[in-house]
Amino acid sequence: MAACVVLFVPMAMAGWHLSRNKVLFFSGALFVSLAVCIHLIPYFPSVFPSSPTVLLQQDPTPCISLINEKLSRIDVSDLLNGSWIVVAGDSQARLFVVSLLDLVLSLDEMESIQADLFKRHSNYHIVVEEIGMKLDFIWAPYATNLTHVITDFKRNNTYPDVLVMGSGLWHMLHFTNYSDYGVSLRFLRESLIPFLPVGSDSTRGFHLFWLGMPTLINRMLNTEEKRVKMTSEMCNLYDQELYKSKILRKDGGVFLLLDVENLSKKCGVDCSSDGMHYNGVVYEACVHVMLNALLIESHQKL
Ligand SMILES: *[C@@H]1O[C@H](CO)[C@@H](O)[C@H](O)[C@H]1NC(C)=O
Ligand SMILES: *[C@@H]1O[C@H](CO)[C@@H](O)[C@H](O)[C@H]1NC(C)=O
Ligand SMILES: *[C@@H]1O[C@H](CO)[C@@H](O)[C@H](O)[C@H]1NC(C)=O
Ligand SMILES: *[C@@H]1O[C@H](CO)[C@@H](O)[C@H](O)[C@H]1NC(C)=O
Ligand SMILES: *[C@@H]1O[C@H](CO)[C@@H](O)[C@H](O)[C@H]1NC(C)=O
Repeated sequence: MAACVVLFVPMAMAGWHLSRNKVLFFSGALFVSLAVCIHLIPYFPSVFPSSPTVLLQQDPTPCISLINEKLSRIDVSDLLNGSWIVVAGDSQARLFVVSLLDLVLSLDEMESIQADLFKRHSNYHIVVEEIGMKLDFIWAPYATNLTHVITDFKRNNTYPDVLVMGSGLWHMLHFTNYSDYGVSLRFLRESLIPFLPVGSDSTRGFHLFWLGMPTLINRMLNTEEKRVKMTSEMCNLYDQELYKSKILRKDGGVFLLLDVENLSKKCGVDCSSDGMHYNGVVYEACVHVMLNALLIESHQKL
C-alpha cells in the first residue's frame, strides 16, 4: 500500500506532466514521511487508536506473523562468526539446515550446493569461508543414532558450539512403539548428563536445541502406511514420551525446544504438500528462534 501511495499520489497531484525528477522528489519525500509516521505510531498509541502494530497481529495470513524478531544477514554473520554448528536428525533437520544456510549464503551459492545437500540419507559438510562458519549435517533418523553422535563427540573430546537434534518421525513409522521411543530418548539423556546446566549456569558454551516434530496432517500423508501409523493419537503419545524423558530444558534437561509442532500448526494446511514437510517459512522461523536464544545466551549486543 505504501508503495502505491508513493507512486501514485505525486502523479495524481500533478497529472502526467511532471518530469521524472519531480516525481522522484515527491515520491522520496512521501516515502520518508510515511516511514517516519509508521515508526512513530507505536509510541503514540493514544493518538492512533488502531495502530498498525495491532492490525498486524490480527493478520489472517499466519505464516507472515510466525516470526516476531528476525535477525538480519549481517547480525547472523556476526553471531555465527567462527562457530561450528552440528545439526543431526531426519529430513526435518535437513530442511532446518537449508533455512540456516539460506541466511548466510547468496542465492547462487545456495543453488550450487542443493544437489549435495539433498543427497538422500547422507551427511553434509560445509565451511562458509566469509564468516569462518563450519556446519555439519549428520543423517541420524533415530534417537539411538543421536546418542552415537554424542558418543563420537566424547571420544574425540571436541564439541560444536551449537548442536541441533531431533528425531521421532522415523521411529513412529517403522516401530510405532512410543514406549520404545521413550527408552531411546532416556539413553540420549543419559549420554548428555555431563552437559546438564549447573545452577543457573547454562551448558558451558555448548548450546543444545531440540527440533520438535511437526504437526502431521494425516489425510495429506503420502502413503497408506503413514496414514495408518502416524495418527494424531500416536503423535500425542510420542510427544508425551519426549516430555517424560526430561531431555528438554524446561523439564530439567539440556535441550531448548524449537517448537516445530506449534509453528507448523500455525502455518497450516497451505504450508505443506505432504502433511509432514513444511514450507521454508516454518524452518526459517525455527532458525530465528534459535538465533535469538543464542543471542541472549551469549549476552551479545547487536
Ligand atoms: C569474523 O571475525 C573475524 C575476527 O574474529 C573478523 O576479522 C571478521 O571480519 C569477521 N567476519 C564477519 C563477517 O563478521
Ligand atoms: C541409525 O540407527 C538404526 C537403528 O538403531 C540403524 O539401523 C542405522 O544403521 C543407524 N543409522 C545411522 C546413519 O547411523
Ligand atoms: C572425530 O575425529 C575423527 C578423526 O579426526 C573425525 O573423522 C570424525 O569426524 C570426528 N567425529 C566427530 C563427531 O567430531
Ligand atoms: C515396545 O517397546 C517396549 C520397550 O522397548 C517393549 O518392551 C515392548 O515389547 C514393545 N512393544 C511392542 C508391541 O513391540
Ligand atoms: C504455541 O504458540 C502459542 C502462541 O502462538 C503459545 O501461546 C502456546 O503456548 C504455544 N504452545 C506451546 C505448547 O508452546
